[in-house]
Amino acid sequence: MARSGREEGGGGEERKLVLGRYELGRVLGQGTFAKVHYGRDLRSGESVAIKVIDKARLRQTEGMVEQLRREISVMRMVRHPNVVAIREVLASRARVFVVMEYARGGELFAKVARGRVTEDHARRYFQQLVAAVGYCHSRGVAHRDLKPENLLLDEEGRLKVTDFGLAALPEQLRQDGLLHTQCGTPAYVAPEVLRKRGYDGARADLWSCGVVLYVLLCGFLPFQHDSYAKMYQKIFKAEYQVPPWVSGDARRLIARLLVVDPAKRISIGEIMRTPWFRKGFVPPVPTSPVSPKKWEDDDVVLDGTAAAAGAMSPRTCNAFQLISSMSSGFDLSGMFESEQKAATVFTSRAPAATVIQKLEAVGRSLGYTVTRGKGWKLRLEATADGANGRLAVTAEALEVATDVAVVEFAHDAGDELDFNKFCAVDVRPGLADIVWAWQGDGPATPDVAAECSPA
Ligand code: ADE
Repeated sequence: MARSGREEGGGGEERKLVLGRYELGRVLGQGTFAKVHYGRDLRSGESVAIKVIDKARLRQTEGMVEQLRREISVMRMVRHPNVVAIREVLASRARVFVVMEYARGGELFAKVARGRVTEDHARRYFQQLVAAVGYCHSRGVAHRDLKPENLLLDEEGRLKVTDFGLAALPEQLRQDGLLHTQCGTPAYVAPEVLRKRGYDGARADLWSCGVVLYVLLCGFLPFQHDSYAKMYQKIFKAEYQVPPWVSGDARRLIARLLVVDPAKRISIGEIMRTPWFRKGFVPPVPTSPVSPKKWEDDDVVLDGTAAAAGAMSPRTCNAFQLISSMSSGFDLSGMFESEQKAATVFTSRAPAATVIQKLEAVGRSLGYTVTRGKGWKLRLEATADGANGRLAVTAEALEVATDVAVVEFAHDAGDELDFNKFCAVDVRPGLADIVWAWQGDGPATPDVAAECSPA
């Protein structure tokens, strides 16, 4: 659970970088497509957090431009004391900068990584989480990636939900009124999200709240296993154990949150009526907007390339236009820098036997020698040597529920970059009709320094 501690500012001797009216400091956190930096408003002296998104990298993955647009839209819709507030959106030719409220206390993850918290602390965090999540749901927003890494603390220890990158709006509901995109972080994801039948994003969020509550009280995850497949199996059965130090009331609440059938899972209103939740609960006072900006308002283009961003005026355009200028495309060419790892696990709605048959055919068509192992296992070996010997990949499929198989590729021999390319590119077209979702593709984000002027 090693994660570097936080400290403010630009990090000792480092040169300060200036971005419009903000001074940019050290990196606070890093996601797949973005880095979050500490920042300071040079006019007011206030601390901010600035999410820096590389446009080119975003364009490389289908749907990411739309996702960023949705994230900004959602952040502007949800103004709540327990949600990180957005201040403004800036852009340069190469990057988008989302300026947000700074949460000085860092991630709740850092606290639980040191071990469980007391039941009173767990309750206080959980009350704030449920208040924020209930507010988001009342505005039609499901977060879909609730976990301690996305829960920040301010200087008073107040919880702030952040990272709406996977949030869903009602416009994403299909005709059945449900969401169908599989996303989130496996250990925190509700079983219905892992299934194929569509899910209610709000109810799925409550499962994740249950996992967060468990982690706070216990100091470890309820569903954990080295193998994704085994972890999914536990999730599908809500198979977990509660250690003896957790009180009866807390235990009962967890048991009503971690319910496999979303229709039987406890609702926000019911949570708020439980004795455990009610103890000392002070409903948060609504915040007035940090910034009066709406989606349609002007955001700033930093390097005067408004035309490239599709704006009407030379200096400003709105975030919608800033992001609209970035046409999407599907291009995995950025996947192969040395620090980048491809996803090695996918889920499928096909039975394990069909998955293995398909993999065998795809492997052969790509020129690999394919051997079957015991159960649903395969070994694919290249017929010629690569950069570091002959590539060999093993694949194992496990049916984790009647209609869900998890397939995991492992690197057996040969060069690691060849293995990454195999998983990220070579096998994908052939498997497209049986893959439901690849788990956690992760290109790294580049540095922002090139964009900013030295102070
Ligand atoms: N890390 C990611 N977002 C942050 C924020 N708003 N404040 C502090 N640290 C963060």
